[in-house]
Amino acid sequence: MERTFLAIKPDGVQRGLVGEIIRRLEAKGFTLVGLKLVRVSKELAEKHYDVHRERPFFPSLVAFITSGPVVAMVWEGDGVVAAARKLIGATNPLTAEPGTIRGDFGISIGRNLIHGSDAIETAQREIALWFAPEELVAWQPAATAWLVES
Ligand code: RTP
Ligand code: MG
Repeated sequence: MERTFLAIKPDGVQRGLVGEIIRRLEAKGFTLVGLKLVRVSKELAEKHYDVHRERPFFPSLVAFITSGPVVAMVWEGDGVVAAARKLIGATNPLTAEPGTIRGDFGISIGRNLIHGSDAIETAQREIALWFAPEELVAWQPAATAWLVES
């Protein structure tokens, strides 16, 4: 089953949007299989955003992501990687569509509330970076029969 890594960034936690963000993913029909509150180390932040290491915004991005607690999550479901990115919206909240998390709750690219893996391979790398295998719980939601045609 496809899985993605999502992280509510320090602005989302500080603004009290943890419940609202989780609610949207639950309501959509995806399954939560990993969840923890993390105070992110500089080492983990730099590894997570390694692809952006040479970008001018890298130091401020690492400073931001380590500035307060982050809610790290793994969500499961067919097509969850791309669908979660759609629920999250465009990188810049000012241009993100209304109805998306960033479009509904943000106004600044440096405070865009949530991270989502951008591809299946990226998700696998990020899940392994943030979670130990025993922290992930595979389970069968009772509502599956009402969400997916068998
Ligand atoms: P994310 O990785 O956090 O889910 O965001 P994303 O895929 O939509 O955007 P990405 O290009 O991967 O950028 C990672 C994060 O870096 C910050 N950023 N700042 N100042 C800038 O021009 C700029 N560009 C990117 C954002 O916080 C973005 O989420
Ligand atoms: Mg990205």
